[in-house]
Amino acid sequence: MRLVTDLAVSALFLAPVFARMADLVVPRCPATAPAKFTTQIPSGGPCPETQVDLCYTDTTLNLKFTARGETNFYFDPSQTTNGDIWEYEVMEAFIYKGTSDPQTYFEYEVSPNNVTYNSFVYNPSRVRAAGQPFDHAFVTDPFADGFKVNTALNKPNKLWTTESSIPLALFNGEDPKGSVWRMNFFRTITGPDTYPNQQLCGWKNTNLANFHVTPAFGTVLFK
Ligand SMILES: *[C@@H]1O[C@H](CO)[C@@H](O)[C@H](O)[C@H]1NC(C)=O
Repeated sequence: MRLVTDLAVSALFLAPVFARMADLVVPRCPATAPAKFTTQIPSGGPCPETQVDLCYTDTTLNLKFTARGETNFYFDPSQTTNGDIWEYEVMEAFIYKGTSDPQTYFEYEVSPNNVTYNSFVYNPSRVRAAGQPFDHAFVTDPFADGFKVNTALNKPNKLWTTESSIPLALFNGEDPKGSVWRMNFFRTITGPDTYPNQQLCGWKNTNLANFHVTPAFGTVLFK
């Protein structure tokens, strides 16, 4: 009876409540749901249109990043997996399985030359407070672990797309139907004339020139 009660509570009560609260409801693939943004962080000024289309399978979270209005496609060709690609142009996803404002979450980034950054972040202050610990634990062999990435640049149309697949086992999150997660998505823009200054763009505004503000993460329901 206990199991039946728990199932009834989550099916009849929690799922609809989270569905109302969720900023994004992610379907099973091949359907997708878009997180779109055109907002600069923290100013709220305009950013070129950016979109992350999400869907899930029993074992993966699939993300398709689309950067429109891209002019520089700017990266350092000497950088490889888990290099400091965030100094140049990247699209990013911060991912946490659970509903709280996390102190540990996964940071995924991809650059226009198909290089990725794959790291857990330790951010106990939740806002990357000055003088507080802030650390990374890299996933050192992402492709052996089942990550997938594929990038296409369409320079005449100022378009950059990347399709990524991230193993849900990384989060103890396989078969995620009905679960609620926290996420944020970002894009950095720079170029040879402006580097190292960057324009920061994001789905949920952190209200700081800093992406690592977890109370700002959006709420994502896997339906
Ligand atoms: C991107 O990198 C992945 C992993 O190394 C590789 O499988 C894929 O073919 C690459 N795609 C392109 C377009 O370079």
